[in-house]
Amino acid sequence: MHLTTNIALATIGTLTAKVQAQTTDWTTAYSKATASLAQLSLQDKINIVTGVGWNDGPCVGNTAAVPSIDYPELCLQDSPLGVRYGTNVTAFTPGIQAASTWDIALIRQRGEYLGAEAKGCGVHVLLGPVAGPLGKNAQGGRGWEAFGPDPYLTGVAMEQTIAGMQGSGVQATAKHYILNEQELNRDTMSSRTDDRTMHELYLWPFADAVRAGVASVMCSYNQVNGTWACENDETLNQLLKTELGFKGYVMSDWDAQHTTVGAAVGGLDMTMPGSDFNGGTILWGPQLLTAVDSGQVSESRVDDMVTRILASWYYIGQDAPGYPVINLAAAVQDDHKDNVRAVARDGIVLLQNTGGILPLIAPKKLALVGSAAVVNPAGPNACTDRGCDTGTLGMGWGSGTANYPYLVAPYDALKTQAAADGTTLSLDSSDTTTNVTSTVSGADAAIVVITADSGEGYITVEGNAGDRNSLDPWHSGNALVQAVAAANNNTIVVVQSVGPVILETILALPGVKAVVWAGLGSQESGNALVDILYGSTSPSGKLPYTIAKAASDYPSTPVPGNDSYPEGLYIDYRHFDESNISPRYEYGFGLSYTSFTYSDITVTSNATSGPATGTIAPGGREDLFDTVATVTVTITNSGSVAGAEVAQLYVSLPNSAPASPPRQLRGFDKLSLAAGASGTAIFNLRQKDLSYWDVVSQNWIVPKGSFGISVGASSRDLRLNETITTS
Ligand code: BGC
Repeated sequence: MHLTTNIALATIGTLTAKVQAQTTDWTTAYSKATASLAQLSLQDKINIVTGVGWNDGPCVGNTAAVPSIDYPELCLQDSPLGVRYGTNVTAFTPGIQAASTWDIALIRQRGEYLGAEAKGCGVHVLLGPVAGPLGKNAQGGRGWEAFGPDPYLTGVAMEQTIAGMQGSGVQATAKHYILNEQELNRDTMSSRTDDRTMHELYLWPFADAVRAGVASVMCSYNQVNGTWACENDETLNQLLKTELGFKGYVMSDWDAQHTTVGAAVGGLDMTMPGSDFNGGTILWGPQLLTAVDSGQVSESRVDDMVTRILASWYYIGQDAPGYPVINLAAAVQDDHKDNVRAVARDGIVLLQNTGGILPLIAPKKLALVGSAAVVNPAGPNACTDRGCDTGTLGMGWGSGTANYPYLVAPYDALKTQAAADGTTLSLDSSDTTTNVTSTVSGADAAIVVITADSGEGYITVEGNAGDRNSLDPWHSGNALVQAVAAANNNTIVVVQSVGPVILETILALPGVKAVVWAGLGSQESGNALVDILYGSTSPSGKLPYTIAKAASDYPSTPVPGNDSYPEGLYIDYRHFDESNISPRYEYGFGLSYTSFTYSDITVTSNATSGPATGTIAPGGREDLFDTVATVTVTITNSGSVAGAEVAQLYVSLPNSAPASPPRQLRGFDKLSLAAGASGTAIFNLRQKDLSYWDVVSQNWIVPKGSFGISVGASSRDLRLNETITTS
């Protein structure tokens, strides 16, 4: 059964009840699963819930086939940006770049293509997308795999990515569940947060994932409130399976299972990879059989695990004949690079453009500086799982990667452009300041490319064990820019980064005229950069996180021991707004080569105060997803070139709600507009978007009173204000 949407892509604007929960399909899937279950021996069942072991199958995770019900050897494979270890696959852009586009159609298409490539390789379960880490720690190593620290944007991206992947016929995995916000001590630490923060921040995007019909959820390495996330009754049985009505199965992260009985009772449904990974012991398989025989685990619990796993397989339609055989060498790239280029390009955020230095128009002499301007001389895939910061940076490191089929670095793409324009292009890719003056002086402009990298903690790169040690540019990037800007008054800084970098040193340099936040453009990063630098497309990305003036302005960093999340609801812009801290570039910020005006805000609302009352469907109480108010705004491209604007809607809850962040993103709409053209941004607010989580009644409540509705170009550039009043 395929997940389908009820709305044409072209009309997708803000999140509404667009991806309908496929309850009837789940019903069909469950009845097929129940019929198959009846034919299985206990041993068959154990085989379905237990991975075959590390390196004992063609994929990073595998379970044994059950021929009696035509159930295949299941292939579970990383990653959220492509088929890991595939040899003829696309290296899609990381999640954070997709978020940075704020473009629902591109995010959806990225998911579709990811799913198509995975299916083409015979993968049944693709291990993505990522909503944990959410990104409360700017230095957190894996934030780039996910969609940034706002739960609403992350939720939209999760929903669209999952719908895309599963629509292409592959099972998606929402990971890592939950409160897995750092690499430091990830497999020993305990995380804890208050109930309201859990619901309003960390659980929120997983609810959207469940609503999108996600087949599986991967529980994380850490403990939650002193209990391992993979045997945590509260987070798995209560929150995920009961409150959110999750129909699929919970799989463990690789070796995140710690007990046989505790995990079974606590809500785990499939153990991965089996588990003899990194010296781990096998906890299910024969041990689960013994536990059932001795009555410590009921057979009905095992039946539930199996039913969930089989139902997900049926739900996605993988029982249909002709599923491709497992072949990680399958040629599946198609024209998917077009999506990579579009996401890489439209995720680029223009931060500064003094005197309109950009776009470049056929400069006579151009200088290019930085080791990140070129591909790693040892080859784009020279470092396993991208575990080095050598050469241009298109993704972070770890399991969340794929091999590049090719990698277009800035130098490659600029060379082509320079040849077409008759521009003399000089290059210094040494990262040293020794000869840089002679390279850049006399050039019409000097482009310097700097990086900041991070990844998964099993690899340490330049002393960074996953999480970043600081928010400074790598490879003495500040000093490099200083040297360039001292010798060239038209310096353009290009930042390839996994997340926020402190830019104060760079911005203080009078020679720096432009800052282009290139993010992580994967295989097409050079081409995407040239598209923006030369203005074939106007920049339209907006920051999916806050760039602070100082690292200490952020509310949290990875901690060595346990983390009780003292910052609560106040992460990223919620913290800066609440504490009145001026960021350097606020959440949602991004410049364009054109300008946009906002006018004519309209609000229609039938929102009423009170608790959610709907029945539980995948995602939570059904009425939470009803549209209760619609806001429209006219956006006009008032400049002289075509461009796209991401209009953002922020909600301020009335005073009757408990103390809340001053503003929270609850809608966005990206409009492409020709010069002089106008369009209507439409924001459909769901009941949940106007609710807070009430810890007493354990329910979402729409508070009574006047809601502030602000629409603008960023979280701080709010152009139009209105109110919605509930009684
Ligand atoms: C990561 C997961 C990944 C798994 C399999 C773990 O280390 O946390 O994200 O899916 O490995 O490679």
